[in-house]
Amino acid sequence: MKLKKLYLGTNTKMYKTIADTRTFLTELDRHTKDIGRENLELFVLPSFTTLQEAKKCVASGRIRLGAQNMGWEEEGQFSGEISPLMLKEVGAEIVMIGHSERRHVLGETDDMENRKVLCALLHGFTPLLCIGETRKEKETGISDEILRSQLKLGLRGVSGEKSKRLWIAYEPVWAIGVDGVPASKEYAQEKHGVIRACLTELFGKENGDRIPILYGGSVNPDNAPELIRMKNIDGLFIGRSAWEASRFDSMIRSVLPIWEKKQ
Ligand code: PGA
Repeated sequence: MKLKKLYLGTNTKMYKTIADTRTFLTELDRHTKDIGRENLELFVLPSFTTLQEAKKCVASGRIRLGAQNMGWEEEGQFSGEISPLMLKEVGAEIVMIGHSERRHVLGETDDMENRKVLCALLHGFTPLLCIGETRKEKETGISDEILRSQLKLGLRGVSGEKSKRLWIAYEPVWAIGVDGVPASKEYAQEKHGVIRACLTELFGKENGDRIPILYGGSVNPDNAPELIRMKNIDGLFIGRSAWEASRFDSMIRSVLPIWEKKQ
């Protein structure tokens, strides 16, 4: 089935200050404003403290903004957490949930991700659930089981109707960041197939097919085109290679025609 758009986005992790984010978004918006959005969903997930200012830098609808995490209650005794009401107030539309660094550095569990997914859906956000196996899990030959269990536990209680708002990012832990090795296009294609099959199992064929699955983990200008050429890959979730606006713009321009041809 045809997905409506190509999904391209970046999470700036704990890097850009308000001033840096302002510069990045203003430049990204200037570089990309001539690119039609009929086929493109462009999004940026900057730090919490920058969101309010970030909103002022982008024309509405051209670059969607979101948060890198969210607490699962509206308010309460959760020091250090940011609630869905607070995120709404600053204009976030997307909420990233379960990024590898949240799971493996900060100790989040599938149950926690599940609460966040349900809460994000309840409050009208687009949850971007990140999943991926570690190197050890890959070497043990249990990658598919891990992906399936992260999906099944993370999406517990999500209805077919609500699933229409979900986005998934497949980000193998061993592929992410400065020490990461990007997944080959064949490997990513295969794992996206496993994820798609599990989503259709959970939500039925029509709903399951509709959910975009993005690949992330050391995406760069060289491997982006070949990844997007793969049938099962609906978008790219990019870290380091997207943090300079002109570089990100070039990547967008290089993959969009490839994606359009694939449709
Ligand atoms: P990277 O980050 O592209 O710098 O590997 C990806 C991510 O963490 O989402």
